[in-house]
Amino acid sequence: MIMDPAVMGYYERGGELTRLRHGRGRLEYWRTRDVLSRVLPPAPARLLDVGGGTGVHAEWLAARGHDVELIDPVPLHVREAAKLPGVRARVGDARELPVEDGRADAALLLGPLYHLPERADRVRALREARRAVRPGGLVVAAFISRYAAIHDSVYLGGFLLEERRAIEYGTLDTGLIISSRKDGFRGYGHHPDEILGEFADAGLPEPQRYGLECAFWLYGDVDDWLDDDGRRELLLDAARRLECEPSLLGVSGHLLAVARV
Ligand SMILES: C[S@@+](CC[C@H](N)C(=O)[O-])C[C@H]1O[C@@H](n2cnc3c(N)ncnc32)[C@H](O)[C@@H]1O
Repeated sequence: MIMDPAVMGYYERGGELTRLRHGRGRLEYWRTRDVLSRVLPPAPARLLDVGGGTGVHAEWLAARGHDVELIDPVPLHVREAAKLPGVRARVGDARELPVEDGRADAALLLGPLYHLPERADRVRALREARRAVRPGGLVVAAFISRYAAIHDSVYLGGFLLEERRAIEYGTLDTGLIISSRKDGFRGYGHHPDEILGEFADAGLPEPQRYGLECAFWLYGDVDDWLDDDGRRELLLDAARRLECEPSLLGVSGHLLAVARV
């Protein structure tokens, strides 16, 4: 399968080694951990981490005793992930998973759907995840919110430029994200309700949707909350209380959707 060279180039620069380990990225990291810890089967489960990047989640999942196989199209990511204790990693694409039917207890797609701008490709990736999971297992997918780009642009100040405003308004219509961070990120942002149709078309009806960061990722002092263990727990608890509130789903930067096969 062909991967967009711009996406490959973006990831080959190595940003995924640190993205979730500092600043606001830590909120996405802790909240993803929080939701996964509650929905995944107890260890040792067979987990397929599709688009697992450098293994930021594979690492703690393997440390908890899960059997983790990571698949990612970026060779740098696979090399880094393969160094982690208990993590097997190989090159592959979410649209054509190199695994047999029913292999896993759960398949995680924490990122590939950001980079598949064609709906047919996203549904194909979800179908592949469903095929790879045993009956009764789980498919968990992450999405960028359609509204994250405009929020981020105001937060970072890029929105003051007319040219950026045109891009952010375009994202509201098309879902196509061109990051204002000058880091070359290109992605696709979902309306929360769009997730339901894509899951249904992949044979995964009625997923549970979770907003990960709520509005907290946009608070100027969010780092202070994350730096202090006690305050971080309070913030995570607040986000947990609000995670399934339909009127707040789109304000999160990222969403998770979880369906049982
Ligand atoms: C934002 S990163 C997320 C990494 C990690 N899962 C996490 O949650 O931090 C997105 C990941 O999706 C991968 N990816 C992009 N297109 C993909 C595709 N077609 N199939 C599988 N993975 C893909 C990228 O290589 C990258 O590792």
